[in-house]
Amino acid sequence: MATATLTAGDKKLNVSATKLLINNEWVNAESGKTFETINPATGDVICQVAESDAADVKKAVKAARAAFDSGSKWRKMPASKRGALINRLADLIEQNADELARLESLDNGKPYAVAKAADLPLTVACYRYYAGWTDKIHGKTIPINGPYFCYTRHEPVGVCGQIIPWNFPLLMQAWKLGPALAAGCTIILKPAEQTPLTALRVGELIVEAGFPPGVVNILPGYGPTAGAAIANHVDVDKVAFTGSTEVGKLIMEAAARSNLKRVTLELGGKSPNIVFADADMDQAIEGAHFALFFNQGQCCCAGSRLYVEERCYDEFVEKSVARAKKRTVGDPFDPKTEQGPQVDKDQFTKVMGYIEAGKQEGAKLLAGGKRWGDRGFFVEPTVFADVNEEMKIGQEEIFGPVMSIIKFKSLDEVVERANRNMYGLAAAVWTRDITKAHAIANGVRAGTVWVNCYDVFDAAAPFGGFKQSGIGRELGEYGLANYTEVKTVTVKL
Ligand code: NAI
Ligand code: MG
Repeated sequence: MATATLTAGDKKLNVSATKLLINNEWVNAESGKTFETINPATGDVICQVAESDAADVKKAVKAARAAFDSGSKWRKMPASKRGALINRLADLIEQNADELARLESLDNGKPYAVAKAADLPLTVACYRYYAGWTDKIHGKTIPINGPYFCYTRHEPVGVCGQIIPWNFPLLMQAWKLGPALAAGCTIILKPAEQTPLTALRVGELIVEAGFPPGVVNILPGYGPTAGAAIANHVDVDKVAFTGSTEVGKLIMEAAARSNLKRVTLELGGKSPNIVFADADMDQAIEGAHFALFFNQGQCCCAGSRLYVEERCYDEFVEKSVARAKKRTVGDPFDPKTEQGPQVDKDQFTKVMGYIEAGKQEGAKLLAGGKRWGDRGFFVEPTVFADVNEEMKIGQEEIFGPVMSIIKFKSLDEVVERANRNMYGLAAAVWTRDITKAHAIANGVRAGTVWVNCYDVFDAAAPFGGFKQSGIGRELGEYGLANYTEVKTVTVKL
């Protein structure tokens, strides 16, 4: 596992961080095993990465526990100094933004220009937002009965396991590390096996920023081995997970069986995006296109059930199909590229399976539907019309560039149909009528509702799911609360 030199667009990249970060040291896995990380645009191996397993998790938890013990450097550090460290990390990410964007694009397949313009600034903003919270985390004084003085302290929850997905590797790392570090926790973070490289590079920057040993440990590896070892470990106080609903259930079960560690989950979605005929049609069409196709369709909150009012349905379908056909697919390093490959072969196969199911169940295929190119994992921007909630593609998370357009007649009907799904992550409505907008915002059971916009994210605004889309919220003050325990102290006067 020597340093690899790679070509990323018109620049060379040196990949130096390919091992496990435990206690601020770069080490091989106990087993000596490594795994390949692949460039999804070509299918070629980028490099080998150390593959952690239960033995490494054990080591990392020990380091994280020692870093958390009272009297440790981290626990004695003034809160404002913690904030300065997080800001220093944000500075370093900013200084290395171009390199990180290239690495993200290479490992994940997302267009480099998008990584640079969206993922990087959002990542930096998230760390800065939470840096500002460190010395503003405090409890209350409570006027209880009797000669007592009662107050609460918001203490860090402890050693946190954090398991993240591959669709926004840097950003999901920031959503997890930001609040945990702000609260004063210590961390074992497992990046997704598809995209370990940027998380590890940030690990180098964490060490450079000056975080004490053991505060952040990064363990690349697979889910059923390293991930499960984190979820099952009896000395991990909390586990935060983002990924599939299926694995979310396993995490919760492991937490329950081991030590009742706290659990927060950010899972899948099948988010209704509702277009009324009175909307600004051009904005709604472009907005719906973005809502579904952004990030190759690999967004937990993708607007993947596109409800369009009968009165504007034909026009909307026609123009959406034309827009999808114009979408530029190709080399993630070509500045004209809007869409890169799916993250890996499994995801490619899953998406192609859904396209097949859509055809078989009688949805009308109006754009795409095939593999794009002859190498890598590209899928053509695909549009199905005349979809309904009984079809697989109208019900299940596809996580790919496949738009499903559904016709509706009335407001009450569309609220009921929007809620007829096991997920409840996000929703959107496009209308010029404020009454309709609020009726949707109030009626839809989802953690986020966008009105005349989509995918507007801010570190200050909470995000998370109703129903089987998850438990708890990330970002904002609500996200921070999941990394603290409330302690009540009562003093006799
Ligand atoms: P996944 O849920 O299997 O993987 C997400 C993370 O969990 C990865 O780090 C993985 O290594 C880990 N993991 C897997 N099995 C585990 C286990 N038994 N214990 C602990 N950790 C485990 O998702 P996958 O297989 O990458 O994608 C499958 C589907 O999940 C996608 O097609 C998509 O529908 C959904 N998904 C949703 C995401 C979201 O943002 N909510 C992100 C990624 C996937
Ligand atoms: Mg999986």
